[in-house]
Amino acid sequence: MDFKIQVAELKDLRQAQADALLVVVGEGAAPQGLGKALAGVLEQALKDGDFACKAGRTLYLHGVAGVKAPRVVFAAATADTAKAFRAALVAGLSALKGGGTRHVMVASALPQPLGETQAQVLPAAVGEATYVYRHSKPSAPAASKLHRVSLVCGVAEAAAVRAGLERGEAVAAGVALARECANRPGNHCTPSYLADEARRLGREHGLEVKVLGRKELEKLGMGCFLAVARASAQPPRFIVLRYHGAPKTAAPVVLVGKGITFDTGGISLKPAAEMDEMKFDMGGAASVLGTFRAVAQLKPRLNLVGLIPACENMPGGSAVKPGDVVTSLSGQTVEILNTDAEGRLILCDALTYAERFKPAAVLDIATLTGACVVALGHHRSGMFSPDDALAAELHQAGQDALDPCWRMPLDEEYDEGLKSNFADMANVGPRAGGAITAAMFLKRFTAKYPWAHLDIAGSAWKSGAAKGATGRPVALLTQFLLARAR
Ligand code: BES
Ligand code: MN
Ligand code: ZN
Repeated sequence: MDFKIQVAELKDLRQAQADALLVVVGEGAAPQGLGKALAGVLEQALKDGDFACKAGRTLYLHGVAGVKAPRVVFAAATADTAKAFRAALVAGLSALKGGGTRHVMVASALPQPLGETQAQVLPAAVGEATYVYRHSKPSAPAASKLHRVSLVCGVAEAAAVRAGLERGEAVAAGVALARECANRPGNHCTPSYLADEARRLGREHGLEVKVLGRKELEKLGMGCFLAVARASAQPPRFIVLRYHGAPKTAAPVVLVGKGITFDTGGISLKPAAEMDEMKFDMGGAASVLGTFRAVAQLKPRLNLVGLIPACENMPGGSAVKPGDVVTSLSGQTVEILNTDAEGRLILCDALTYAERFKPAAVLDIATLTGACVVALGHHRSGMFSPDDALAAELHQAGQDALDPCWRMPLDEEYDEGLKSNFADMANVGPRAGGAITAAMFLKRFTAKYPWAHLDIAGSAWKSGAAKGATGRPVALLTQFLLARAR
């Protein structure tokens, strides 16, 4: 993210000193503050049928008479919501992509004045419209020239807008970090790489970072995590991040992120088709790093701990086998019936480790089940919690951050499927309700604190032509933490 976003107080849009002027216009309502010249141009385009106020529609104009900025883009917002505003911004900024625009001035012609929430989505939109993955693709289109964005607003709105931009910028930086991290292939983004990223984050932003290796994990007794890590040539890493924003006595929130840097399925090998997508199986870990990036910048008054169990899930001569029984850090034993249900195995030991922080709440974030994608698709993350208040907080944070989740059930009836004749529990249940049995498995390790689980298998990345990571749910998590710190 190398762009600067600032507030511009400007009376007459024709005087905008920028390479481009991007104006968001609403459906139905007469545009506000456009001035006669620009309003006339817009009206004519509408009349001629070259523009319509429909979601995603934009009108690009070059060299409008009487307007200083050489480029003018109108982008339609279909409703009076932050979501519609963001969509219009993304469409408008995309229309400028690849051109000569270095500085864009953004203005709203919507009837309602700009507020904190509208301002907050601007950095997110800029991040979304300008991100290019380049790390292992030198032939990728050049990074966007855009490096400066100004948001036009009135004097009365300036304070709220500034606060929104500040918050939005920190979140966008966190999203960008998570996205980049998750996009990197498994041979680049290894457990050691994740540990290095955490250490770098710690150095640059004053966070405490500790990394445990195999020896220490053996000593602790993380039998489930080590069972998954066993057959990989890449050593496992258990990453502990700490942010101190409140007195030491204040109980921290703990974020636990699944960090499988590649999931082959192990001995219960996955089919070849689309197996490459399992490089995204560290999306939970990436979102924890991204959230720490945002929190380190915004400095809310709370304490935060991040736990990332990171390893590869590989087959091999030393791999864990179906039917093997291992002992978790909690002392409970697990019969591993399917080595592809590895996420819950690395998470359960991290969830037990979390007890030592006497947490106010523990959230785990994981690309845990294909079943969650079947249930909710790619839009909402699955959210599970036995705690109604915590579930409500997370739901609201998702709504506010435009990074939505949906609560799923945890009735004890779903626990039946985890019965084992040879251990305290099996690591898989029946196929039906797979996202829920996975959550029920985790629940067995969370008796000591309020807990919630986010299954981001659908929301953390996209497949198809636009294959890539989304950086979710950094926005949700940051919103949740900021709301708690208030
Ligand atoms: N990482 C996968 C879940 C996943 C699948 C994420 C597809 C994103 C897209 C997880 O480790 C896994 O393999 N889960 C199994 C569980 C099953 C064996 C009970 C699954 O969902 O098939
Ligand atoms: Mn798996
Ligand atoms: Zn997995």
